[in-house]
Amino acid sequence: MKEYLIAGNWKMNTNIIEAGNLAGAVADKFKDVSSDVTLLVCPPFTNLSAVTSQLEGSGIRLGAQNCHWEEKGAFTGEISLSMLKSVGCDYVIIGHSERRALFCETNDTINKKLHAILSHSLTPIVCIGETLGQRESGKTFDVLVEQLTMGLKNITPKQIGNIVIAYEPVWAIGTGMAASIEQVDEAHNKIREMLISQFGSVADNTIIQYGGSVNENNSSELFSLENVNGALIGGASLKVESFMAIYNNALVQV
Ligand code: PGA
Repeated sequence: MKEYLIAGNWKMNTNIIEAGNLAGAVADKFKDVSSDVTLLVCPPFTNLSAVTSQLEGSGIRLGAQNCHWEEKGAFTGEISLSMLKSVGCDYVIIGHSERRALFCETNDTINKKLHAILSHSLTPIVCIGETLGQRESGKTFDVLVEQLTMGLKNITPKQIGNIVIAYEPVWAIGTGMAASIEQVDEAHNKIREMLISQFGSVADNTIIQYGGSVNENNSSELFSLENVNGALIGGASLKVESFMAIYNNALVQV
């Protein structure tokens, strides 16, 4: 049975009141009718506890947008996985292209975070994707191979089932210009192939999300592709109607 993960990445949006209201509105509309489609929201750190309260008992899962790999100590401004766990997080996004481009995140630090997340029994969402320049110069698959090989270094076949991959072409993020169905199909098939060649057939079940200008109009077709298991959604996740319409488009696939 195909599984879907529909995740809202709220980025640096919402204050604590707005976050509580948004989460409450999502929870009001959510009916936990399928164990094959998981709904997840990832608010800013400061709003995690307000959102947890709103989601209690709803079946909607909570995630963070980043973490540090160390347990505690002199790391001013950082947040540990125990802290995230204590506030109710199940998922952590790592390697988002905004963090790679603006905050110097590398495949090496992403790999450290990945191992730390798994050792805390949380689920990492590892973002990968090429820039426009890389696509135009025919380097898309080289970039994906490098990000997957280095990002997933020392991961075992047993662990790969607990890792989510999000394919997010950088040029499609926040631009309103999602990748075409053919581009998404090609990239996701390739990612599945790479995972299977690295980890074996257990990787058949790894969730591979697409991200980049997903909305209520393009999500149905995206979700019908064999190797697309949901979406990582920025802008549209801040609008309850759009976010829930995307969720419903995944529900009808299972
Ligand atoms: P977008 O963002 O849906 O606004 O394009 C996606 C993301 O950055 O995860």
